[in-house]
Amino acid sequence: MTGRGRALNRIPDETSTAVALCDFRIVVLASGSGTNLQAILDTLHRRERIEVVGVGSDKPGARALERARDAGVETAVFPREEYAGRDARDAAIAEWIEARGADLVVLAGYMQLLSPVFVARFRERVVNIHPALLPAFPGLDAIGQALDAGVETTGVTVHYVDEGIDTGPPILQREVPVPGDRDRERLEAAIHAVEHELYPEAIRMIAEGRVRIDPGDPSAVAIDD
Ligand code: GRF
Repeated sequence: MTGRGRALNRIPDETSTAVALCDFRIVVLASGSGTNLQAILDTLHRRERIEVVGVGSDKPGARALERARDAGVETAVFPREEYAGRDARDAAIAEWIEARGADLVVLAGYMQLLSPVFVARFRERVVNIHPALLPAFPGLDAIGQALDAGVETTGVTVHYVDEGIDTGPPILQREVPVPGDRDRERLEAAIHAVEHELYPEAIRMIAEGRVRIDPGDPSAVAIDD
């Protein structure tokens, strides 16, 4: 992770005027409702020395942006149509992320593919959450794919982002049983509940410096106790 200056941040807690040292800064990119962002804000933000220093989106109306504003977090919008192409837009996003001094870029329902230049610039500093046990069911509608395939167990994966679609090394995975009636809404609710625990857990481990790509096998992640 990058070596940067440390930011002093006041904990917004009515019972305390304590000052916390927030020395791990994250930026979240989200296109949609942002329930994972909310879980991160509720469990990590300005606690545990982690601060969400920005939320970016390609969608001006994304509910995730409202959640960020409600938490007093800076927001930025990078609409697709305002840039000549993906490289130009991702360069603007990258500049904004660097200006925020972010250690980690957290994709939380960000529905745009990041350019290879962006991925290379933030190598091992971008994570994503996917609603399946990768490498099973990558890409869109992973929950529908799992239901169609007839599996009895699916799950959630937090992984580093590489140039492929959901192909980067997994950091944490957790199984979720498919309900006996194979009801989609129930399965979605169960997956989201697991996501809201697993993503903060993975980010916490990264902030603690316990997660690294295995030098002997770049497709694997090693986690220190
Ligand atoms: C989550 O299911 C996540 O796995 C996928 O996109 C969804 C985002 O949901 N990548 P939310 O916007 O965090 O509610």
